Amino acid sequence: MKPVSTTTSDHVPALRFNWLTGFYDRLIAATMPEKAFKMALVQQAGIRPGDRVLDFGTGTATLSILLSEQCPGADVTGVDVDEKVLTIARRKVAESRAAVRLVRYDGNKLPFERGSFERAVSSLVFHHLTRSQRQQALRELNRVLVPGGEVHIADWGKPANGLQRLLFYLVQLLDGFETTADSVRGVLPELLYEADFDNVEETGSFKTVFGTLRMWRCTK
Ligand SMILES: C[S@@+](CC[C@H](N)C(=O)[O-])C[C@H]1O[C@@H](n2cnc3c(N)ncnc32)[C@H](O)[C@@H]1O
Repeated sequence: MKPVSTTTSDHVPALRFNWLTGFYDRLIAATMPEKAFKMALVQQAGIRPGDRVLDFGTGTATLSILLSEQCPGADVTGVDVDEKVLTIARRKVAESRAAVRLVRYDGNKLPFERGSFERAVSSLVFHHLTRSQRQQALRELNRVLVPGGEVHIADWGKPANGLQRLLFYLVQLLDGFETTADSVRGVLPELLYEADFDNVEETGSFKTVFGTLRMWRCTK
């Protein structure tokens, strides 16, 4: 089953429906431990001055801006497929005066040369992707990282218990069952290995009102 026709291209927008994109920041800030898990992701990424960092699926650029603020000297690029969300991101980046470059791509090939980044981070994106889109995205992240480069991901994962599983139905109802089924199965580590990453490790988790958010790291 394809995602419901929510947009002209083949992707699921931040809150599934284009008309909801403008409410994304307020909803996430009000319902999720957003600051805590995004800050944990930034710290986990261990970014050094001069590192080139890719925020994959930057959305409204909250994580990109945080990266730029918390890691002075890092060169931060946010990439996303959705022009509408990037319009919001551009406004926020301009207001914050963060040195973040925002780039749109086609959801297939990242518009960067092989070995362009030391780190890739991604928050709440992989549950928007079908299995084949996940595999393609991970192959592309592998390609654009330098050898020894790292990926740091926060996304919905295997529910920690029955209640967390029930709560995750809310996300599935909103974002669709096709792309989120792999999140419930917890297949991301396998897909990371399959995409030629090593040292795949789950680093932490957050129980939230929408289910269990998990964090991973791995190395190229
Ligand atoms: C729930 S939002 C998360 C945004 C942001 N990373 C955050 O943590 O707030 C998911 C984002 O993934 C983007 N997205 C969907 N399909 C994508 C793809 N194939 N490649 C990259 N980003 C994609 C959407 O446009 C949306 O901005």
